[in-house]
Amino acid sequence: MSDHRALVLDEVRKYHQEQQRDAGFVPGVTEIWPSGAVLDAEDRVALVEAALEMRIAAGRSSRKFESAFARRLKRRKAHLTNSGSSANLLAVSALTSHLLEDRRLRPGDEVITVAAGFPTTVNPILQNGLVPVFVDVDLATYNTTADRVAQAIGPRTRAIIIAHALGNPFEVAGIAELAAEHELFLIEDNCDAVGSTYDGRLTGTFGDLTTVSFYPAHHLTMGEGGCVLTSNLALARIVESLRDWGRDCWCEPGENDKCLKRFQYQMGTLPAGYDHKYIFSHVGYNLKATDLQAALGLTQLAKLDDFIDARKRNWQRLRDGLRDVPHLLLPEATPNSDPSWFGFVITVAPDAPFTRAALVNFLESRRIGTRRLFAGNLTRHPAYVDQPHRVVGDLTNSDIITDQTFWVGVYPGLTDEMLDYVIGSVKEFVEATG
Ligand SMILES: Cc1ncc(COP(=O)(O)O)c(C=O)c1O
Repeated sequence: MSDHRALVLDEVRKYHQEQQRDAGFVPGVTEIWPSGAVLDAEDRVALVEAALEMRIAAGRSSRKFESAFARRLKRRKAHLTNSGSSANLLAVSALTSHLLEDRRLRPGDEVITVAAGFPTTVNPILQNGLVPVFVDVDLATYNTTADRVAQAIGPRTRAIIIAHALGNPFEVAGIAELAAEHELFLIEDNCDAVGSTYDGRLTGTFGDLTTVSFYPAHHLTMGEGGCVLTSNLALARIVESLRDWGRDCWCEPGENDKCLKRFQYQMGTLPAGYDHKYIFSHVGYNLKATDLQAALGLTQLAKLDDFIDARKRNWQRLRDGLRDVPHLLLPEATPNSDPSWFGFVITVAPDAPFTRAALVNFLESRRIGTRRLFAGNLTRHPAYVDQPHRVVGDLTNSDIITDQTFWVGVYPGLTDEMLDYVIGSVKEFVEATG
């Protein structure tokens, strides 16, 4: 390492220390965020190192992250993207590839999903000219069931995409079995559930494709970022092509002739020997991430186990502390699962003597951050009203979620003192109004 570089990085560590001066937790004054990035000196150094080396496009750290993350999530391939939403777009779009021949999804084909969720789990279905089929979820787990999915399968159903709700696994083994039985693709949106297990097996390892988000609210962060993972090498190749402008070639930027036939292909009506780097086999995008993001991802990945433990501990503390509070439906882990929680979801009983809004406003007035279970019932949002879709069964619980549900944080940046203040505040409100 050059003297200047060592000096800069040393100063970065000192600067980080300087930034860490903790004013201490002051109840009602200190913000208790529902989620956030937990960044240490090594994260700051990794970003500065990447910047010093001007690794402004995908490069060394991106490749290293992709292979480390694939190993960690027990998939053969991982492809970094610029967001979790892009990862979902790539995963669904991959299923429409001509390379899948008669298994490819065609416009008008149906994809089963849940109504209560995040919009960009559903949007790629519509963006690909496919039709979402919405099913309801259970309260307390906030997940759908294999039974509901089975009822939704129709003659044009070709795939299923469902998120593990706020880290809580859905019945993924049963739904994967259904998918296999009916020859449907299964995509697990694992954006909120890195490290969760079902039947002792990591979520994201049951489906054909899985997606992750690295936005600061998530288990690991790169600022913005995401990932598509799969153990199906054909799907991996399609995802890479779609991510990288639709090109046929799989050389990294700056790399030449990895296939050893760069000038020996003849495709379509292109001239023989047309540069493989510029042959396009998909109508693609550019959804790549940069090496600065990946450098941060690598230092974050080293802390993943600690982050997961902290999320589980924080969730349990809230669960124990709120156990006997009336009028609240508390979250439950899906049977046979061990969730790596994203948030702590609370539903105010519809017959409670107070409203969700009143409780949320009280918590927010004490600087306790709250969030919605994303969109609630997506079909009620203006964006979806005129979109083609099918609903199977009723969406009663999705509507209850829209009206009565919110969540508070469990992310590793929260201390026991903060969590106890959350518990105490909820109890105080319910005792005063209940
Ligand atoms: C379940 C789920 N899917 C997808 C996304 C989209 O991820 P991103 O914000 O990185 O685009 C999110 C974001 O929070 C999410 O919670």
